[in-house]
Amino acid sequence: MSASSTGPATGVIITIDGPAGTGKSTVAHLLAERLGLDYLDSGSMYRAAAVVSIEQGIHVDDADRLAEALQQIDLRFDWKQSPPQLQLDGRDISQRIREMDVSGVVSEVAKQPPVRSVLVGAQRRIAQEHPRLVSEGRDQGSVVFPNALIRFYLDADPRVRAIRRVRQLTSSGHQVDVSEVTEDIRHRDHLDSTRSDGPLICPEGAIIIDTSQLEVDEVVDLMERAARDRISGDMTGC
Ligand code: DC
Repeated sequence: MSASSTGPATGVIITIDGPAGTGKSTVAHLLAERLGLDYLDSGSMYRAAAVVSIEQGIHVDDADRLAEALQQIDLRFDWKQSPPQLQLDGRDISQRIREMDVSGVVSEVAKQPPVRSVLVGAQRRIAQEHPRLVSEGRDQGSVVFPNALIRFYLDADPRVRAIRRVRQLTSSGHQVDVSEVTEDIRHRDHLDSTRSDGPLICPEGAIIIDTSQLEVDEVVDLMERAARDRISGDMTGC
């Protein structure tokens, strides 16, 4: 997707942090469309790193080697697609990154500081080329773009997040148990918020939205209003 002419003329970075199951990706993409901004799914880049680990046979613990491999590959988005499609050395990997083997190792990959360092650098370079951006992921407002014009933090009750996840898995043919998924989500929250590098935290000054009782459109409405207020305030302040 490329930014349309309906948005503000200058650079605008909007970040959306928060745990899994809060609907970050869905609302980030919709918000970007409404505001005419580009959309960056930073989680897909960690998923691409997991693909590299699997395909090149580099163990996730061998983080320096994996980071080195990531510097050698050509990882880029096709911005003409909506949402932008991730390409690894010219190959469309937008389906591959959602497969089970990738989902199974990605959180271990994302824990590794050398991997994070390469991908945080890549995300900041993307923002230089696409300075009108909604960037979504666990550390986008806290670490990658701490000076973003507006930072959101989405949260939701773990049980609500589990129910959403169960619906997703059931619709793709998997049989799962809500209490098991809730336990898994609590465990992932703990891992995400206690890791040493880029832990999941609520960025200072972020607008917190609890999505537990809200429909997707209601969340996007809230965000759009807040973003437009901030953008117009920022323009008059100049
Ligand atoms: O949002 P997702 O499920 O596609 O993210 C994939 C993995 O990457 C997940 O383990 C969280 C991690 N991640 C991260 O550590 N930092 C980000 N900015 C985005 C995702």
